[in-house]
Parts: sequence; structure tokens; C-alpha cells
Amino acid sequence: MIKPKKSIRNLKEYNTPKSRNKSDIKLDFNENTIGCSNAIIKEINKLKRQDYATYPQYENLNKNISNYCKVKPEEILATNGSDDAIKLIIDCFVDKKDKAIIIEPTFSMYEFYLTIASAKITKLNYNKNLSFPTQKILSKICKKTKLIILCNPNNPTGTIIKKKDIIKILNKNRNSVVLVDEAYYEFSKQSVSNIINKYPNLIITRTFSKAFGLAGLRAGYIISNKENIKILSKACSPFSVNLIAKIAINTALKYQSETKKYCNDIKKNKTLIQKLLNKVKIKTYPSESNFIVAKFRDSKIILEKLKQRNILVKDLSINKSLNNCLRITIGDNNKTKTLEKALKDIFKPCLIFDMDGVLIDVRNSYRTAIKKTVEFYTKKNISYNEIESYKKIPGFNNDWTLTQAIITSRKIKIRKSIIINKFQEYYLKEKNKIFRGLINNETWMLKKDLLTKLSKKYTLAIVTGRPKIEAEYALKLNKTRTFFDVVIAKEDTIKEKPYPDPIIKAIKILKTENAIYFGDTINDELASKKAKINFVKINNNSKTRNINKTLERYLK
Ligand SMILES: Cc1ncc(COP(=O)(O)O)c(C=O)c1O
Repeated sequence: MIKPKKSIRNLKEYNTPKSRNKSDIKLDFNENTIGCSNAIIKEINKLKRQDYATYPQYENLNKNISNYCKVKPEEILATNGSDDAIKLIIDCFVDKKDKAIIIEPTFSMYEFYLTIASAKITKLNYNKNLSFPTQKILSKICKKTKLIILCNPNNPTGTIIKKKDIIKILNKNRNSVVLVDEAYYEFSKQSVSNIINKYPNLIITRTFSKAFGLAGLRAGYIISNKENIKILSKACSPFSVNLIAKIAINTALKYQSETKKYCNDIKKNKTLIQKLLNKVKIKTYPSESNFIVAKFRDSKIILEKLKQRNILVKDLSINKSLNNCLRITIGDNNKTKTLEKALKDIFKPCLIFDMDGVLIDVRNSYRTAIKKTVEFYTKKNISYNEIESYKKIPGFNNDWTLTQAIITSRKIKIRKSIIINKFQEYYLKEKNKIFRGLINNETWMLKKDLLTKLSKKYTLAIVTGRPKIEAEYALKLNKTRTFFDVVIAKEDTIKEKPYPDPIIKAIKILKTENAIYFGDTINDELASKKAKINFVKINNNSKTRNINKTLERYLK
């Protein structure tokens, strides 16, 4: 084997789209999802065999592109895709060991071509909220900085860079080339093309791959002042734009209304998908592109679930700051409908219930056991209302802890284990593994027919602070065990509610991203909040069975 040069030896391979089937919905490479204009296909079909045999002539190509960009023809250079444009700029302006700045996470080809050029790469990071780090960049630009690459809007974050920030960077060192990659310009509608003559160090790249739907043909271009274009033209392959790409570009620019409509649809569809995800508490980041970044609890699960439905998206977890984030290309209306349906199905909510006071009326069991235990040790009566007011205090989810706290507040000191024994004596009255205590006084509150209907529409689970044996006993007694896929009880986690641990455990087992917790106390509410799921307060009292009314709404 002949050893390649050092920079090539260390090069990481670029991940080109792999294993995509014809039937796949490709939302993984920010492509146009309906394809290019039919007018382009018509024009290409007019070609004769002799046309293929001759080198392309570019006639009005520059003029057409320059009209579109509102610049002069000599300020344009057409390239073989914008990848080719980026490489050409690096070839022309970056020598071995020259300093170049990129801001990560960003389009991987910048590092790729800079590595081949043996440049010294400074990688800065986007801010934590994915906003653009202007000050950080300004502080890193020095006399030796040869190139700064800005992706606007950025791929993969969708972040837009304000024009005034680009100008600050252009001004910092007039000898540093500032490459502004506007691959997604048609979606963002923001450009610095009108200041190319004011800033001689500004070079812009654009592409026909995205909004115009011509990624397969490889068509891009550079916009800069005419001196820069002259330099770049010198190093550019003379026929870098092939005959078909040339025809496609000219025709695409003739039929711009189709592209404009597509971009408008993308904008609408982007809002729709963002809203849908936000509704199920999935964070999305602002994007001025044809894709969005969304942060999931576990991106691998969503990636897989979408794949099962033939929808391909890109996992961005490889970037530390984008752990569990997926980049989802936004497509045309039909693809968006399919994506919407898939996401609604994946995020079908899981209803998680607390037991006591929500599914089960415990006034005559747990509450009575508290009352009897307190009264046994303090020899003083305590009302149910007083017990309820204690229950409203965070941290008293566990009835044993609560019983001890009431006894202590009455200035009597008893060890917790002794209190637990007494409590259980009232509650379970266990003999030969048979419970004869207050536990048998409990009533199940959620109507069975409603439970049956709910179980058909949702996944159901229980997260309770009860010991496992007592939870399972109640479910068996009421013949409701089979309705619940998961039952998390006291022993299942070290920390109890109001810590989120039991709810998080249930969510992990259920592999759900969308869960609602139905609880009756402040502990339930705090635990849900910390587990980042929705909480619905149930106000059962002996007269109103609020749980039934509340859940009927979930069947509509
Ligand atoms: C930011 C950015 N620049 C450039 C490109 C490359 O586009 P082209 O197909 O024109 O090479 C892409 C493609 O994904 C991109 O995201």
C-alpha cells in the first residue's frame, strides 16, 4: 500500500446516507421531500445523445444565478455542490498549519476539508441553549486566523446568526476570510449577500440541494466580490458543473414559485411538529431551517420507533451538547401528516396512577390506622381533618413517617419500628398470611368499565408508596391487576415521593416519553414535576369520585 499524506491518514470518514429503501420517508439529510420541479425533468429529457458528448457551456448560468442573488454575474462562481465550494475556498486561502475557526456542533465537511488541508483548527462551542457565541469567537480571532466558517442557519442546530454579529466578526480581522455557508438560505431568507463589496473578506456559499430539491445533481455556488471570485475561479475545475446540473439550475431559477411554495409549507409544517412535540413536553430548539432539533428522554428509542414506521431521522447524540437530540427534517404536507401520525402514536400517553386516595379510598384503612396508632400512643383523639392537614405537608407520603411525626408533635417519643408494628397490626392484622385488618375496608374508586375502556386506549401503570405486598393485595382483591403493565411500589426505589425516582423508574420500564401522573397530594405533584411529566390532581372525597369524572375526559 502506498502511504497517503499524514492529513489523510487521520481523516474520519463522512457518513453518507446508508441503508435507505425506496419506501423510507427520508427525514435524515435535510433534503427536499417532493423532489425538484417537473419542469426540470422536462428540460433534461430534451437532451440528445450528442449533447452528452460535448463539454458543457455555461452561457447564462452566472447571469441567472446572479439575478436570483441580486449581485453581478462576476460575483458568482457555480460549483459542483456547495461541498465543492467549501473545499475550493479552503484550497485557495488556507495553507498548511494556518489557523481556522469552526463553531461546533456544525456541518462536518468543514473539519473534513480543513483536516485535508492540514489547517490548525480551533473548535469553539455553541452556547448551552444553542445560541450563537459571538463574544467567544471575537476573543479567539487573532492576526494568524486565516479562515472563520459560519453556518447560517447552522446545521444541525438550526441556529440563526444575526447580521450585526457577522459584521463584528468580519471587522475583527479584515485579513481573515469569513465563509458564511447559506445552504438553507431559502428557508431562513437571511443573507449577507448585499455586503460582499463592503467586506472584501466575506465569501458566501449556497446550494441547490435543499429547497430546490437537486441534491442528487450536485449544484452549488459562491457569492463574493469579483477579486475573490477571480482567485477562486483559478483553482476551480473548469467543468465542475455538469451539463444536467446546468440545465437544472437554469430551469429551477425560472420556476421559483414552486420552491417558494415549498418553503412556505415547510415553515407551517415546522411549527406544527414543534407544537406537537412541545405539547408532550419534548424540548425543541428555534430553527430557521428545514429541520428541527428535539431533545428526548432517550433518543435511541424514538429513532427506533420511527424507523419501525419507515421514518428515518438523524440522531445527534454523538455531539456532547446534543445528547438525546434528534434532527428531524421537515418535509412536504403529506410527509408531515405521516410524521405527525407516527409521533402521536409513539407519544400516546401512559397514564400512571397513585393508589391511595386516587384509585382506592383509604379513609377507612390507612387513615384509620394512622388515627388508631396515634391515639394508642398519645391517648388523645385526632380527627380525620387533622390527619388530612398533615398530608398536605411535603414529605409525608409515607403513612408510617406521618404517624411518627404526629406522635412526636405531641411530645411523645416512640421508635419508628415500634410504631410500624402497631400500625401494621391495625392495618393488616395478619395471621397465617391472611389479612383481616383495615386493609379490607378499602374501596376501589375507578369504575371498572371506565378502566377497561382506558386500558384499550392507553398504557396504564401504578406508582405507589405502598409496600409491594399491600399494593398487590389491593389489586387482587379488586380484580384489577391485569389492567396495569407496571406497578412500582415502596421497595422498588430507595427514595420515595416527593423524589421523582419511582416515577422515573416506571417511565424507564414503560419506555414512554409521554406520561401523566394522577395523584392527590403535594408529594405526587412534586415528584411529577421533577420527573418532568404532566400532573393531574385528583380530589376524591367520600362524596365526589373525582377520579371517574376526570378520566372520562381522556376517552373523548
Ligand atoms: C450547512 C451545509 N452546507 C453545505 C451542505 C452541502 O450541500 P451540497 O449538497 O450543496 O454539497 C450541506 C448539506 O447537508 C449543509 O447542511
